[in-house]
Amino acid sequence: MDVSTAVEQRRSTRHFAARPVDQAILLRVFAQAGNAPSGGNLQPWHATVLAGDRLADLRRQMQVALQAPPGSEMPEYRIYPENLPDPWRSRRSANGEAMYASVGIGRDDRGGRMAQVMRNFTFFDAPVGAFVHMPRIMGPPQWADVGMWLQTVMLLLVEQGLASCAQEAWSAYPDTVKRVAGIPDDHVLFCGLAIGWPEPDAAINRFANPRVALEDTVRFLD
Ligand SMILES: Cc1cc2nc3c(=O)[nH]c(=O)nc-3n(C[C@H](O)[C@H](O)[C@H](O)COP(=O)(O)O)c2cc1C
Repeated sequence: MDVSTAVEQRRSTRHFAARPVDQAILLRVFAQAGNAPSGGNLQPWHATVLAGDRLADLRRQMQVALQAPPGSEMPEYRIYPENLPDPWRSRRSANGEAMYASVGIGRDDRGGRMAQVMRNFTFFDAPVGAFVHMPRIMGPPQWADVGMWLQTVMLLLVEQGLASCAQEAWSAYPDTVKRVAGIPDDHVLFCGLAIGWPEPDAAINRFANPRVALEDTVRFLD
């Protein structure tokens, strides 16, 4: 597979086949992803990859955490800027609308929407769930490094026929995640990454998620 094909085929996947993923494949993917660039070659990324019993334990403990009163855990960071303005606000809501509509959840179906959001915390039933974290001392340039590494991981997964979904949602429950996954307290939990074999026909894996026009994001000056 060439890079262009991997870039075109990658999409956030939220419905996986009930089929385990051989750890040898993941070892290869994460080893290769270590070739991602980083300022000063700091390689600030860390991942903790859960499957089997540990993943089942996390899912159980998350059900407990989700029942706790709001504010029981302090989110790691604000996911979006406060009062996100347009055009980003509209992009975000269009993405949500398309996703909910694909599984028949209507605009006013708050319960249905909440149930779909909660699926984040089972890793969408993926056979593997990874957490991406880094030492808390790292700043914006290193966060960008971790993002590049994450995309490298996601593209290499596509090359193996696997699919994934990055999940910032997990950053709202750092205490539970760090306790179960053994992630040090001086690390910041950036996101989760659901990994598994895709169900390409599932509606939630097929909705259109258009991109803005190139001229809205890239300028060429000469
Ligand atoms: C860092 C990061 C965090 C994300 N967090 C979530 C999340 O918590 N839940 C979710 O369903 N999708 C999440 N997404 C997926 C985005 O919604 C998705 O990438 C975007 O809508 C573009 O769609 P595509 O990945 O299918 O091309 C995340 C993506 C990234 C890169």
